[in-house]
Amino acid sequence: MSKAVSSGNLLLIGFMGAGKSTLAKELAKELKSVCLDTDKIIENMESRKIKKIFENEGEEYFRELEQKVAFWLEKNVKNSIISTGGGFIAVKNLKKIGKIIYLKSTFEGIIKRISEHPKAKAKFAKRPLLQDKKKAKELFKKRGDIYEKLADITINIEKYKNEKEMAKELIKLF
Ligand code: S3P
Repeated sequence: MSKAVSSGNLLLIGFMGAGKSTLAKELAKELKSVCLDTDKIIENMESRKIKKIFENEGEEYFRELEQKVAFWLEKNVKNSIISTGGGFIAVKNLKKIGKIIYLKSTFEGIIKRISEHPKAKAKFAKRPLLQDKKKAKELFKKRGDIYEKLADITINIEKYKNEKEMAKELIKLF
């Protein structure tokens, strides 16, 4: 039997561009809590952007950093909202960090969401694994079941106008 999580953390998972960071900020505001972002923690640790880490050291090195952050979160962070990078689900101790909320969408929904953002170009450019749409779609298919299985709560983001609405709905569920 898996150990019940008592950290009080909420962990947001889902594909690139699903709105995890924005939703984390909304939830933190509504719940009068604080939010953390695993990608931001890594960028701060390394003093450079994720794009540069991928370019210089490659994906494997980035995944090692994600694991380091995951162990740190498990040991040190409580009662926080944590947004994660789309591939963070591969860390060994994910379930021990907090209650997992999956932001579910279709691939087309994700692309539409990013494309409609005022800074769409930058949003695509900063994500190394979103450069080749065909490969990104394959990754999306591969990860769908994994997200689903890990989730304690799944929210279908395409049903909501924005992250504020999603946050309100989630809070009703807690
Ligand atoms: C990744 C998602 C990115 C970032 C990195 C790798 C992935 O975060 O961690 O580019 O493997 O899906 P977002 O989900 O915030 O785009």
